[in-house]
Amino acid sequence: MKNPIIAAIESRVSTNLFDSEKVLDPEHIEELTRLATRAPTAYNLQNWRFIAVRTPEAKARLQAAAYGQAKVSEAAVTYIVCGQLPSHTVMEECLRPSVEAGFMPAQMIDAWSEAVESTYGDNPQMQRDEAIRTATLGAAFLMFAAEAHGLATGPMVGFDPAAVAREFGLAAHEIPVVLLAVGHARQGNWPQKPRLPISRVLETI
Ligand SMILES: Cc1cc2nc3c(=O)[nH]c(=O)nc-3n(C[C@H](O)[C@H](O)[C@H](O)COP(=O)(O)O)c2cc1C
Repeated sequence: MKNPIIAAIESRVSTNLFDSEKVLDPEHIEELTRLATRAPTAYNLQNWRFIAVRTPEAKARLQAAAYGQAKVSEAAVTYIVCGQLPSHTVMEECLRPSVEAGFMPAQMIDAWSEAVESTYGDNPQMQRDEAIRTATLGAAFLMFAAEAHGLATGPMVGFDPAAVAREFGLAAHEIPVVLLAVGHARQGNWPQKPRLPISRVLETI
């Protein structure tokens, strides 16, 4: 039998058609999100926020901000995966559990806080890059968490970020990076599209 992770990588598709009759309960959404947060982030910053849009009213608002894309409403839930501009002020909360678990020396909290400050402090480009990296990795893990639960996903960049930020009350340091529709696929979706040959994309030095 094929390794299940490899099978998921090879079978996942960007789903366009969802069964709008099927819903996900809040506990299920929480479990998918818990798995997504096992993705790595720089310095364990965890500079993301997942907004799970599941009520018809909220979906309608999100669909309008996503140029009317039907899957926003047809999927059981559509996540707004947000990246946050990194701040050293979160390091205590993010790293203290590692110290308490006994494997991270306590002084590393200050050391990593200083590293975060010097890496991102006065560099808006680096801050934005890190927010995008974090949310993208979170969304990727969310896709495969959904696959593991037998669910389909559809990522979207087709949305107005300013409208999403306004409608869903994002903070000034939050960027809506990607929308991810999650739910049950209905008939008629395409298979995964063939990729470029590896020789076009891989350089081994
Ligand atoms: C960041 C990102 C943004 C995307 N935005 C949209 C979108 O707004 N609407 C849409 O229908 N598909 C969108 N897609 C789906 C892509 O078209 C799809 O992933 C690509 O064609 C490969 O499809 P496959 O993974 O099913 O082979 C997006 C995919 C990604 C990764």
